[in-house]
Amino acid sequence: MAASGEPGRPWQEEVAAAVVVVGSCMTDLVSLTSRLPKTGETIHGHKFFIGFGGKGANQCVQAARLGAKASIVCKVGKDSFGNDYIENLKQNHISTEFTYQTRDAATGAASIIVNDEVKTLFNPAPAVADLDPQFYALSSIFCCNESEAEILTGLAVSNPTEAGKAALVLLERGCQVVVITLGASGCVTLSQTEPVPKHIPTEAVKAVDTTGAGDSFVGALAFYLAYYPNLPMEEMLKRSNFIAAVSVQATGTQSSYPYKKDLPPALF
Ligand SMILES: Nc1ncnc2c1ncn2[C@@H]1O[C@H](COP(=O)(O)OP(=O)(O)OP(=O)(O)O)[C@@H](O)[C@H]1O
Ligand SMILES: *[C@@H]1O[C@H](CO)[C@@H](O)[C@H](O)[C@H]1NC(C)=O
Repeated sequence: MAASGEPGRPWQEEVAAAVVVVGSCMTDLVSLTSRLPKTGETIHGHKFFIGFGGKGANQCVQAARLGAKASIVCKVGKDSFGNDYIENLKQNHISTEFTYQTRDAATGAASIIVNDEVKTLFNPAPAVADLDPQFYALSSIFCCNESEAEILTGLAVSNPTEAGKAALVLLERGCQVVVITLGASGCVTLSQTEPVPKHIPTEAVKAVDTTGAGDSFVGALAFYLAYYPNLPMEEMLKRSNFIAAVSVQATGTQSSYPYKKDLPPALF
């Protein structure tokens, strides 16, 4: 970064950019698919677009859009991607004085495949009644406990039937899947594809300290979503129930969370 001159001085117009980024300009070739192809496999995508990327240029564009006098030092190819990139920099009011084009190499390109399996698990804790609607729309899985469901919906939630009704209200706000945890009663779930509430009970255990059971459950669910994405949601929830039930049988929060080595291999 170079400091700009004193504000209001006549020579300021000619002063160097306040933000100078030395970094990459890349053309992103983005395909959206339901899953990633295996080696050598050809699959159908449902969308394709070309975007402007590269870490250097991304940062420079963000700074410029916030009002910074910005310049990028980089090199692109003397090809159509390079020409388009320079036009994009200009449209973002970024100085291209030090942006070069070469015939010796092609403009950097990144082939990006975004699969539908990247999921967002959202836990609205602590809950506020007027939660921004975007949180529902952006949640693949919206997971809350009884009292959070009450605050968010205004409905009473103290048993699986009532939880099912509240879950439907939350689902209608745009989440893909809703899970409401119910302590010793396990959880209730429903989804856009199966909008009928399903109760998933848990083990009857001797609870000694339930503090942190909710976080144990959400952490376990995140683990299954990331590492066993093909398991049915109901199976993920059964296993998360089991893990959280283990956590309530010991005192403390993190101190009560089990390790993989202490759990039945069937969970993995
Ligand atoms: N007494 C219990 N017996 C068995 N499992 C339990 C018990 N209490 C909690 N669990 C498990 O933990 C999950 C989360 O519990 P709960 O709904 O009480 O979350 P929470 O209220 O957010 O917890 P906390 O705020 O205490 O961390 C339940 O869905 C269930 O799987
Ligand atoms: C639900 O989670 C909140 C934290 O957001 C906690 O304060 C509350 O006690 C929990 N409710 C139940 C029923 O355990």
